[in-house]
Amino acid sequence: MDTHTPAPDRAGEASSRSLLRFLTCGSVDDGKSSLIGRLLYDSRLIMEDTLASIAKDSRKHGTLGEEIDLALLVDGLEAERQQGITIDVAYRFFATPRRSFIVADTPGHEQYTRNMATGASNSDLAVILCDARKGVLTQTKRHTFICSLLGIRHVVLAVNKIDLVNFDEATFDRIVGDWATFASGLGFTTLVPVPVSARFGDNVTVRSGNTPWYRGPTLLAHMEAVDVDHGAEDKPFRFPVQWVNRPNQDFRGFSGTVASGRIAVGDAVVVAASGRQSRLSRILGPDGDQDRAAAGEAVTLCLADEVDVARGDVLAPLADRPEVADQFAAHLLWMDEEPMLPGRQYLMRIGNFWTTASVTQIKHRVDVNTLEQQPAKRLDLNEIAVCNLSCAQRVPMDAYAENRQTGAFVLVDRFTNRTAGAGMIAFPLRRATNIHAEEFLVDKRARAALDHQVPLVLWFTGLSGSGKSTVAKLVEQALHREGRHTYTLDGDNLRHGLNRDLGFTDADRVENIRRVGEVAKLFLDAGLIVLCSFISPFRAERRMVREMMGKGEFIEVFVDTPIEECMRRDPKGLYAKARRGAIQNFTGVSSPYEAPESPELRLATLGRTPEEAAEVVLAHLRRLLGG
Ligand code: ADX
Repeated sequence: MDTHTPAPDRAGEASSRSLLRFLTCGSVDDGKSSLIGRLLYDSRLIMEDTLASIAKDSRKHGTLGEEIDLALLVDGLEAERQQGITIDVAYRFFATPRRSFIVADTPGHEQYTRNMATGASNSDLAVILCDARKGVLTQTKRHTFICSLLGIRHVVLAVNKIDLVNFDEATFDRIVGDWATFASGLGFTTLVPVPVSARFGDNVTVRSGNTPWYRGPTLLAHMEAVDVDHGAEDKPFRFPVQWVNRPNQDFRGFSGTVASGRIAVGDAVVVAASGRQSRLSRILGPDGDQDRAAAGEAVTLCLADEVDVARGDVLAPLADRPEVADQFAAHLLWMDEEPMLPGRQYLMRIGNFWTTASVTQIKHRVDVNTLEQQPAKRLDLNEIAVCNLSCAQRVPMDAYAENRQTGAFVLVDRFTNRTAGAGMIAFPLRRATNIHAEEFLVDKRARAALDHQVPLVLWFTGLSGSGKSTVAKLVEQALHREGRHTYTLDGDNLRHGLNRDLGFTDADRVENIRRVGEVAKLFLDAGLIVLCSFISPFRAERRMVREMMGKGEFIEVFVDTPIEECMRRDPKGLYAKARRGAIQNFTGVSSPYEAPESPELRLATLGRTPEEAAEVVLAHLRRLLGG
C-alpha cells in the first residue's frame, strides 16, 4: 500500500494514465460524506492524528456510538468551505498502488447542483449515490443527466445502505433496472452499479461476504481499473489568458493555464477574437524557460511580436481556431432560486473572459424524469434547457463536445453575484457570424444638431395609476412648445401594437422592456427626446435599458406614489379587479414592484398637482439642456 498522498500541486505530475478525477453526486442523506470518508479511511490515507481527533469527535457528536463516524471527516471540511463563498468545490487526493485519485467533493443538498456542475467539468468519472431504501429518485436521474451533459463518460451507481435492505439482491436488481432504463441512451461508455454500505464498508474497497450474489468489482477496484481517456492534450491548443504580465518595458508575457492541446516555442499562434498572428518566442514554467507546454500546465507565454492581447483573450493555433461569435446555442442548467427569464441580462464568464449575456430563446426544457422536451417561458431552480443566447461581445468558443474547457460558461446574477447558471455550448449561431453593422454617414449627433437638441431618454417608472403617463404627457407638451422634438412610448399603447403578443408574466414584462429599450434607443439615435412610461417593475431591466444608452442619456424618473393612493385613484378600475382576483399578476397586488434605488429623479405625487409634478421634471431638464 502506497501511503503517500500527493500534494495538490503535485497531483498534475502523476502520469495521466494513473490519475482518475472523479466526483460524487448525492445528498448527505444518501451517505455521500461517509462514502468519501470510507474510501479515504480504507485506503489508509487518513493521517493518524486526524483519525484520533475524529474518534474523539465521533464519541461526542457522532450518531454511531463507539464507531468512527466517517461523515465527520468530510463534513468538517464542509464547514471550512462554507466560510469561503468562492470555493464551491474541495479537491481531495489519495492514491493506491494502481492509481492516484482526485475527488471533487461538493456539498450535498439538492440546491447545490451548482457545485456539482463546477466539480464535474473536469472529472473523468462520477459516482452517483442512491439510498437502497428509496431507489432511483428524480435527483438520481437529474445527477445522471447532468453528468452526461457535462461530458462524463463513466458513471457508477453506488446503491448505498444495502445493509438496511438486508443485502437483498432483488432490491438491488430493481434499482439497477430503473437506472439502466433511464441512463442507457445518454451516451455513457461505462455504467456500473455497485451495492455498497459506506458505513460498514461492504464492496467499497473490500468485497463483501454479505452480497455473495454480486459478481462485479468493488467500487475502488472498478475505479482503479476503468480505462478513461483524458484526451485534453490531443485536442487543439487553447490558452485563455488569465493576466498580462508586464513587470517592465522589456518583458511582456501572458499567464494562464493551457486548457487543451500542446504548444512549443516557435509555433505560430493567433489571438482568436482579433485574428492577430504571431509566434511563440518563450514559454516560462515554474522552473524557468521550457520548450513546450501541454494541457493543465500553468505557464507564461511570450510572443515574437507586439500584438494586442488582453485578459480573457484566447491564443490558438492558426490552423485550428475556435469559433468567434456573439450568439450560440447551449444546454443551460439553472441553479438559482431566482428564475431565469429570457431577455434578462446576466454576467457571463467563459474561460477568463467576462461579458454580459441573455437568453434570447428557450428552445425546449428537458424533463429530467422522462427526458421529454417541453416548451418553457422561464427556467426555475434545477431546470435544464436548450437555449439560444446572445452576448454583448464576440467571444472565442468551442462546442462543449469538442472541448470541455472552452465550451463551458457560467451565468452570474448581476445583483447578487451568485453563479446562477452553467452552460455547455452546442454550436455558434451562423446568423451571428454573417451580420455586420453598417456605418452610416449621418449620425445621432448630426441629426440632433439640426434641431439644436440634446437627445435623451426620460424613463418614467412606477406603479399602475401612479401618474407616469399623466406627467409624461404634460412634460412632452411643454417640451414641444419649447420647440423640442419628442416622442412618447407608453405601456398601454405599445401593448396594442408592437407588444400585442405579451402578457404580464415576469418573462413577458422582461421582453416588453427589452423591446421598448431597443425602440427608445432607435428614437434616441434619431436625435429625439424620448419619453417612456412603463411600470418596468424590475431593477434588472431598467438597468439594462440604462446601459443601452450613452452616459448621461438616460434619466430615470421614479413616480413615487404609495400603493394605497394608486388603489384609491384606480383610474382604470384595474386594482378593484385585481383584488377580486379577476386579473392575475397585477403589479403591487400579485406581482412585485422593485422601486429604484438611485433614480435621477424621485417624483412624489402626493400633495402635488400633475402640473406641479411635470414642472419638477422640466426644471431638472432645463438644468441639463440649458435654456
Ligand atoms: S410592464 O410591467 O410590462 O412595464 P406596462 O407599463 O407595459 O407594464 O403596462 C402596464 C399597463 O397595463 C398598466 O398601466 C395597466 O393599465 C395594464 N395592465 C393590465 N394588466 C396588468 C397587470 N396584470 N399588471 C400591471 N398592469 C396591467
